[in-house]
Amino acid sequence: MPVPAQLPPVAGIGLRAPHVARVVSERPPLGWLEVHSENYFVDGGPALAVLERLRADYPIALHGVGLSLGSADALDASHLARLRRLAARIEPAAISEHLSWGRIGGRHLNDLLPLPFTEEALALCCDRIDAVQSALGRPLLVENVSAYLRFGCDAMAEWEFVAAVIARAGCGLLFDVNNVYVNAINHGFDPQSYLAAMPGAAIAEIHLAGFDDRGPCLIDTHGARVAAPVWALYRAAIERFGPKPTLIEWDTDVPELEILADEAAIAQSILEQAHAVVA
Ligand SMILES: [Fe+2]
Repeated sequence: MPVPAQLPPVAGIGLRAPHVARVVSERPPLGWLEVHSENYFVDGGPALAVLERLRADYPIALHGVGLSLGSADALDASHLARLRRLAARIEPAAISEHLSWGRIGGRHLNDLLPLPFTEEALALCCDRIDAVQSALGRPLLVENVSAYLRFGCDAMAEWEFVAAVIARAGCGLLFDVNNVYVNAINHGFDPQSYLAAMPGAAIAEIHLAGFDDRGPCLIDTHGARVAAPVWALYRAAIERFGPKPTLIEWDTDVPELEILADEAAIAQSILEQAHAVVA
């Protein structure tokens, strides 16, 4: 399988609607941009034209939320075809999806729902990832998700499931450090165990985001600054795996662009310290 251009091992941000005009006009010094693939499932129009313009100045990652890799339903062929068309047009540096499900009986649920960590789910996910990679003609990155329940039928730990998917499917890993921390607190495991099980060479991207801690458990809202313990876990990940492309995700109560750039600058400083150690 040909290896396309990769994201650079620097910090980027998720490009959200309130910031598009400023990013287009000011071209701020961001390492790369990530967009939600489904927002560009169109054959033309201004949004796609803007993405094509930005693509000339920034590496672009396409991040999907609707492929439902872990669903018992068959893969949605039209969704995959649209992703393929978008990828051919944008030539992104990465294409990613979530290790979750969100469709059943032909109905699409607007959520990233958790999978049971079983051999059956593992085999299903690997088949789907194989089909997606064949259709796209390039590796897919799959992302570990936050979850608020566990299944009684789980046969392995979450980190064992994620590592097994990466090894068997031969795909890349989009390692969401905030999701690891949120799950560690909510389900009571040591996030360092998770880190230790991850295949560092397969990590092609890292996500960082903020959570809400005002309730009985942490909620992965993508609506706040990255929390101190997540920064600490990120630093540990970079020390273990080396510098990796790192994205600041912010999806609710989206703040001024300067706040996102500030968060990206913190990630960048951690990456540069790691670069210095590597050099
Ligand atoms: Fe994420």
